[in-house]
Amino acid sequence: MAAVERSTNKKVKNKYKICVIGAGHVGLVAAACFAEMGHEVICVDNDKKRVDSLKKNILPFYEPDLEPLVEKGRKQGNLIFSLSLAEAVRKSEVIFIAVGTPPQADGSADLTSIGEVARVVAQNLNSYKLIVEKSTVPVQTGRNIKQTVIHYKKNSYSFDVASNPEFLREGKAIHDFFYPDRIIIGVESEKAEKILKDIYSPLSTKFIVTDVNTAEIIKHASNSFLATKISFINAISRICDLAGADVDKVAAAMGMDKRIGKDFLQAGIGYGGFCFPKDVEAFIYIAKKLGYDFDLLKEVKNINQTQRVNFVEKIKEQLWLLKDKNIAICGLSFKPDTDDMRFAPSIDIVNSLLKEGAALKVYDPQAKEEARKILGDTNRIKFVKSPYEAVRGCDCLCFLTEWEEFKELDFTKIKRLMSYPLIIDGRNMFDGTGLCKLGFDYIGIGKPKKIKAKVA
Ligand code: UGA
Repeated sequence: MAAVERSTNKKVKNKYKICVIGAGHVGLVAAACFAEMGHEVICVDNDKKRVDSLKKNILPFYEPDLEPLVEKGRKQGNLIFSLSLAEAVRKSEVIFIAVGTPPQADGSADLTSIGEVARVVAQNLNSYKLIVEKSTVPVQTGRNIKQTVIHYKKNSYSFDVASNPEFLREGKAIHDFFYPDRIIIGVESEKAEKILKDIYSPLSTKFIVTDVNTAEIIKHASNSFLATKISFINAISRICDLAGADVDKVAAAMGMDKRIGKDFLQAGIGYGGFCFPKDVEAFIYIAKKLGYDFDLLKEVKNINQTQRVNFVEKIKEQLWLLKDKNIAICGLSFKPDTDDMRFAPSIDIVNSLLKEGAALKVYDPQAKEEARKILGDTNRIKFVKSPYEAVRGCDCLCFLTEWEEFKELDFTKIKRLMSYPLIIDGRNMFDGTGLCKLGFDYIGIGKPKKIKAKVA
């Protein structure tokens, strides 16, 4: 485990007693990494099943390298899982809040869990505590946490509220935690700043110290900007489709300009996951509440949604009527190296295909179980164990997530198994010319079509 090995040199001088509230993607990774750095960590969650499983080293989601880190912390005794928030708060000096802030119907983030945590912390204030927001929260949440603690606390112990947003990506979480581009510390006191710098002292990175409001906005602005980059290149992909140009070449050349940067310019079926869709929505909502209409972000969202519709249109353009057509889908998770299906573009695409009457065989290396819960398992959608099983007798093969293993597929075998050799690549993973030479029709996103008859 490369990330784990590299991280073992990173030990703290000043150990802190840390409580991480929430054993989700951010909380569990932070808890395991803080323990790896040498801190004493209690990770609390109110889901008994999750806590019981974690005590047996069963993780609630798939994340490369996380399991050995959790096991190591547990065995060393400095990573404990608990159901008791009150007890964990009393035993800790620093409390990281990493609970969920799910989207509500109006786009705003549901901050109920954060409010509840603030109340319990207040009622268990038995010494100075530093309360740190790690979940992505709307600007001014820190202020509301502070007011809640003041309201409910029963003694004169002091406390600070800080914002320390997390920028880790699912699938690369351990690496991102130990090698961040920067650490944002939004604080109101020198004491809070010192504690947070101490906690992260083994990591060689820049600290950006701001006030709490600014730190909160940095997180929403960063995610929204990344989503904007994706939607921008996806809008360009539409123009490329219409003009017969190649979006990948456009993106590569644009990205060579250091002011633009090459990352997050991969055109495809759009972004998904629990962060970008929710955070873009929440940022639009907060901006509006503060008096600014964030029309740019509304369009980012709109372009993202349209990419899915266009993808289905591309299939229809080739197969005409979808009723009773057999379609293989490879990749369901919102991105590779995760089993996370939340807001995955594949959900809308699969549902549209089913609505048109297609029969689907779907495969994902990790997200099968999560996907089954969302998509169902009927005679119109069969979950299969390999891409080869998926393509047998199919009229079309769609790639919706760019898992590495798809790049190793034997396309000669795939061509033999399919009824008609058509590939529609939602992530521009493949070289269309190469596939065309093998006899496939290849359609990408914002790329010239490679239809065998035309190339031959
Ligand atoms: C994102 C951010 O990248 C993290 O910095 C942040 O900490 C996290 O949200 C969060 O707020 O918790 P994540 O959702 O794990 O991380 O995934 P990304 O790797 O950012 O990808 C998001 C989506 O964008 C995926 O569906 C991916 O397929 C899509 N994407 C990404 C593209 O379509 N094109 C690209 O060029 C890049």
